[in-house]
Amino acid sequence: MLIAGHWKMYNGPGVTREFCVAFEPPDGVEAVLCPPFGSLGAAVASGHTIFAQNVHWQDEGAFTGEVSTKILLELGVEGAIVGHSERRQYFGETDETVRMRTEHALDAGLRVIACVGELEEERERGETEDVLRRQLSVLTAHDALVVAYEPVWAIGTGKTATPEQAQDAHAFIKTLIDVPVLYGGSVKPDNAPELLSQRDVDGALVGGASLEVESFTAICQAAANIRS
Ligand code: PGA
Repeated sequence: MLIAGHWKMYNGPGVTREFCVAFEPPDGVEAVLCPPFGSLGAAVASGHTIFAQNVHWQDEGAFTGEVSTKILLELGVEGAIVGHSERRQYFGETDETVRMRTEHALDAGLRVIACVGELEEERERGETEDVLRRQLSVLTAHDALVVAYEPVWAIGTGKTATPEQAQDAHAFIKTLIDVPVLYGGSVKPDNAPELLSQRDVDGALVGGASLEVESFTAICQAAANIRS
């Protein structure tokens, strides 16, 4: 089981150092932290497994505001999130740029968490599977690739997919691509045990609840309890 803490644009280097000193992942779970770019160096120095929140598809060049695989590898970062719904919604990320970022990162030796998930209106219109099929059509299974199913209506809203909704989406995703699938969207210590015990849920991508050591540790512990 993989539990990734996705800090978004929270936690500068000072808070990151404090978090990393206090955080001890329980045995039996792989815990990954995904701090913002400016905190990556501090996070890597702690010895925890660190992923970035994005990565570009070129080794270097005139790409203002982007970061390359080369820079991440030099920093000691092990992987990157790609295609998070906030990138898709606010920064023009498309299925094609998700494909380019993912392929380049995997080729460069980084691990990737590629995010997919439907909007609320797409679910209401019965289009969830069509959206997942389209978003996943650009990805190819790879040992270092993990997919995160994150229904957009559940992200940061406190609305979580029911365990059945998560299980159904994960099972569908696994008919399209043979990689582990994390669930993301308002995962908290109280709902983690049930979500993580679904057959096709292989871990979690945790936003808000990963900002505090206590709640993130509780979610990691829930994962460790299930598989031990
Ligand atoms: P959340 O965020 O846990 O705060 O809903 C999840 C994510 O965006 O990955």
